[in-house]
Amino acid sequence: MAAAPVGRKETRGARRTPLTVRQPTTLPASQQARPAATRAAILGLGVHVPARVLTNDDLAKIVDTSDEWIVERTGIRTRRIAEPDQAASDLAVPASSAALRDAGLSASDLDLIICATTTPDMIFPATACLVQDRIGAAKAGAIDLLAACSSFVYGVITAAQMIESGVAQHVLVVGAEVLSKLVDWKDRTTAVLIGDGAGAAVLGPSQNSGILSSVVGADGSAGDLLKLPAGGSRIPITAEAIQQGLHRARMDGQAVFKLAVRVVPDAIRQTVQKAGLTLDDIDWIVPHQANQRILEAVARAMDLPFGRFICTIDRYGNTSAASIPLSIWEALRDGRIKDGDHLVLVAFGGGFTWAACTLIWGR
Ligand code: ACO
Repeated sequence: MAAAPVGRKETRGARRTPLTVRQPTTLPASQQARPAATRAAILGLGVHVPARVLTNDDLAKIVDTSDEWIVERTGIRTRRIAEPDQAASDLAVPASSAALRDAGLSASDLDLIICATTTPDMIFPATACLVQDRIGAAKAGAIDLLAACSSFVYGVITAAQMIESGVAQHVLVVGAEVLSKLVDWKDRTTAVLIGDGAGAAVLGPSQNSGILSSVVGADGSAGDLLKLPAGGSRIPITAEAIQQGLHRARMDGQAVFKLAVRVVPDAIRQTVQKAGLTLDDIDWIVPHQANQRILEAVARAMDLPFGRFICTIDRYGNTSAASIPLSIWEALRDGRIKDGDHLVLVAFGGGFTWAACTLIWGR
């Protein structure tokens, strides 16, 4: 009987393990080999807003304010407000399903869900996991991304990197916010600004369109300007915290205004330059909708016509991470944004955070 070769144990009766393991075709894209780099584009968009409309006159019955003051200082005329039993995921789910339909994809095509929200249903599980379950995206990973009002643009940039690197093929980014649940309805300086809503984008590979460049930034030293003190591990929710109103959002409006007018023009210039373009090449700037006066000040500072800024704050107020997808959707519906247009998405918010990206619209 011949001896077994050195280093190879022969066990009588044992089955040989095949030397090559064939990769099952059902593996999600995130577990497959990395394909050649491609550009990531928004393939589909969907939105959902609560049915209830709150006008400035309605607000004047709750706090000491007026339609005239709110329109002049903010540009806001109406906003949508969620019902008491509606949470962020309840807005995120229909927006996400609409985005998938628009992209011609199904939930099972998704490799990752990023829920951009400052108002998650709860601290954990992530709202993205609730969305994953409800839309039936069984193969998708799911995370929440918290950069306050900048979260959607941070999410789009993250999704694009995942797609370009081959980690994922299709990523859903859904900005969903119910700030009405966290605002102090007795504080006229914040209550008049906010609105609820959700906007979702499905990103995937594209040859001709997509994200050309991106910029992210933060200044944590300005964190106190916009914050919700209680509900985390520093100040858990207690009767005392509630009595002190620490479970409600707080804001230094004037400081936020000044910082936004300083960082937004820089972020726009940087992303346009990184894309190898000039401001003249940009058809539309789609900014986070915080206050129309902020956007007008940014346009003045950059010597750009305000008409090139998509502005929807009059109808929805400040919907935080939902404001940019809502604005793109409005501008697509009324025919302003067309395939081939160059867009800059730019957001700023609590943290203090900011993010911008330049893209060619289309699939
Ligand atoms: N109605 C009537 N009067 C008001 C209201 C109101 N809703 N809010 C403030 N005022 C009063 C103030 O008390 C003040 O009165 P006084 O002069 O007698 O002291 C006066 O109006 C002017 O107040 P300012 O704070 O100077 O008003 P300003 O022009 O700065 O506008 C605003 C305030 C709208 C908040 C503005 O600073 C802003 O938009 N900042 C940026 C906000 C932002 O982007 N926030 C992001 C997120 S929002 C969130 O997450 C809650």
